[in-house]
Amino acid sequence: MKNVLVVGGAGYIGSHMAKCLSANGYVPIVLDNLDHGSRQTTKFGPFFEGSMNDASLLQKIFSEYPVAAVMHFAAFCYVGESMKQPAKYYQNNVVNTLALLECMVEENISNFIFSSSCSIYGEPVETPITEDHPKKPINPYGRSKLMVEQILHDFRQAYGLESICLRYFNAAGADPDGELGEDHDPETHLIPLILKTALGQRPHIDIFGDDYPTPDGTCIRDYIHIEDLAQAHLLALERLLTGLSGGQYNLGNATGYSVKQVIEIARSATNEEIPARVVERRPGDPAVLISSSEKAMKDLGWKPKFTDLEAIMETAWTWHKNNPNGYAP
Ligand code: UFG
Repeated sequence: MKNVLVVGGAGYIGSHMAKCLSANGYVPIVLDNLDHGSRQTTKFGPFFEGSMNDASLLQKIFSEYPVAAVMHFAAFCYVGESMKQPAKYYQNNVVNTLALLECMVEENISNFIFSSSCSIYGEPVETPITEDHPKKPINPYGRSKLMVEQILHDFRQAYGLESICLRYFNAAGADPDGELGEDHDPETHLIPLILKTALGQRPHIDIFGDDYPTPDGTCIRDYIHIEDLAQAHLLALERLLTGLSGGQYNLGNATGYSVKQVIEIARSATNEEIPARVVERRPGDPAVLISSSEKAMKDLGWKPKFTDLEAIMETAWTWHKNNPNGYAP
């Protein structure tokens, strides 16, 4: 059985995953309510428009397409928004995910791959961050992800629902074929905003704070290419399908770049000036997030291809240049 339900499969990460599954002999069945996803990306398998808490739709999908596993990319993902609207985050990211999991249990589907996040760790006490680092999220987004990880722990014990939680650091870049890219509405992520500035669509990039305890005062993040992320999911899927145990894995490149360094790399990639200005800190942002991904390399055999930000930026810039309006018609 090669069908995989990709919930949120029309979004940035989900669409790259659907393409990767289809390229590797699986049939991605995409479920997406298109609140944030783009219909144009749903071309790699059957598509259902709807929500993950719609039990009757899920039952219909599962009866039409018996699935080997479910991958879940349908979370809200804006740290800043989660600080202002926590209810929205707990409702979608926790309550709706719980509904999806309950439906899986009822339908005897026992493999689940969850998009977790480095946000579950909060302000690191040491870097690189390993999987057993203390988990003290400092924003509702991170707390919502941690709650689902805890639910998954209990579901494994009670119902035998096996799961792998992939804790992404900062997903970035675009499909190297140029077919898919990063297009959020609204856009809040650093790299697409920088590239929109390079395209002249924004007057400047705002740097959220330069008084953090880092060498240049701006926040440091570990950027991971979207294709490497998709490969890790594929390996996680294969692990579950061969009957091996689930678990939690960090996914990053073990290298941190400050906001100012990211802007510099974008200036070289684009040959554009990219005006920048420093503004207030954004609430909910930890100063430094750098991953240790040794566990994923060892257990899953994961080997990222895009290990430096220059290469990641190049793919992002190619897509933005060729799609200045994103997926908008
Ligand atoms: N930033 C700016 N200016 C901007 C946008 C972002 O300075 O206009 C800074 C942020 O303050 C942060 C860094 O750039 O320090 C990266 O910000 P992003 O919004 O691109 O991503 P986050 O670091 O907030 O990523 C977090 C989690 C991820 C999670 C993601 C979901 O670390 O695990 O949010 O959006 F997946």
